[in-house]
Amino acid sequence: MDKHFLSVFDKDSRIPEIPPIWLMRQAGRYLAEYRRVRETAGGFLDLCYTPSLASEVTLQPIRKFGFDASILFADILLLPHALGQDVWFETGEGPRLSPVFNADGLNPAAIHDHLAPVYKTIEILSDKLPDETALIGFAGAPWTVATYMIAGRGTPDQAPAHALIKKDAAAMQSIIDVLVQTTTDYLVRQVAHGAECLQLFDSWAGSLKGQEFETYCLEPNRRIIAGLRKNGIDVPVIGFPRGAGDGYIDFATHTGVQAVSFDQFVDLGAMAAKIPEQIVMQGNLDPKILVSGGSELDAAIDKILHDMRGRRHIFNLGHGIVPETPPENVSRLIKRVRGRK
Ligand code: CP3
Repeated sequence: MDKHFLSVFDKDSRIPEIPPIWLMRQAGRYLAEYRRVRETAGGFLDLCYTPSLASEVTLQPIRKFGFDASILFADILLLPHALGQDVWFETGEGPRLSPVFNADGLNPAAIHDHLAPVYKTIEILSDKLPDETALIGFAGAPWTVATYMIAGRGTPDQAPAHALIKKDAAAMQSIIDVLVQTTTDYLVRQVAHGAECLQLFDSWAGSLKGQEFETYCLEPNRRIIAGLRKNGIDVPVIGFPRGAGDGYIDFATHTGVQAVSFDQFVDLGAMAAKIPEQIVMQGNLDPKILVSGGSELDAAIDKILHDMRGRRHIFNLGHGIVPETPPENVSRLIKRVRGRK
């Protein structure tokens, strides 16, 4: 494996002295060049479904910063859209969906036709990315996607999804089951078209406790990864059970992931002692510190590098980059990570 990003997963190679680096949401509104393309595309979904533009905005942060990996430009809500749910984005407000409360209206049969532009974007990227840059495909994990499908929008506490668990656990499970199957199929195709690594975003795992964390976070993530392996997909999978707290440890050991992405709320050094050594650790830098920059940013970078000494590690944020981030701070971050041994 030549690509620095992928070498971190290669157990036969030495632990890289300098961790590979990429950032969640590295393509986005903090970049003027993204905002320009976004304006020409029409809506956000049009951007996602236009391969020439989606590939262009994926490449922008690679050209500008030279990250070790690029992440396909798309959205976790394209899958419910492909399943037949109405999905739209209200400017300045975020996603809206026509809510569903069971799997009855969802149609898995036509998802690949709907998602064909995403596969085309991956093909263009495989062709255009520099040889040294890895391409990450992704999907939302079932619980997180279901929280949007049921609420019809983003919610601070995922109350509508929790209410459905209480009211009709079988209906909830039917939605999860459809998502497990179709997410697996979607990711299999992403790899067939050129994705070299996959990340599963379980952004709202933090509101699941105890048995519900097992049922709706651990189990669906585990089933998707098992399904990928059964389909002969051997690329590394990064899991991101954001907000899971101590649940991160079970996540690392019970789902079959090769890497785990940590939010900014965990103590990375303490986690390192509890996460098996063969699991690659990613993330943890507070996106707000990347906004403020300066010596506070330098100190936070150094702490992560210190906590991750001797570990297989991918440098990243604890969550997506925010629109207020000055691009210079991203350059400063990369320089500092790469400038040290
Ligand atoms: O650069 C990348 O990371 C790749 C592209 C990517 C986007 N969304 C583009 C996007 C990825 C990996 C996602 C994942 C995603 N989408 C998640 C999981 C990660 C997380 O942030 O927790 C979630 C929950 C979504 C759903 C979603 N999409 C929301 C809630 C919003 C609105 C919030 C916002 O920032 O506006 C989006 C919109 C979205 N997805 C944007 C981008 C660049 C901004 C849209 C715009 O340009 O107007």
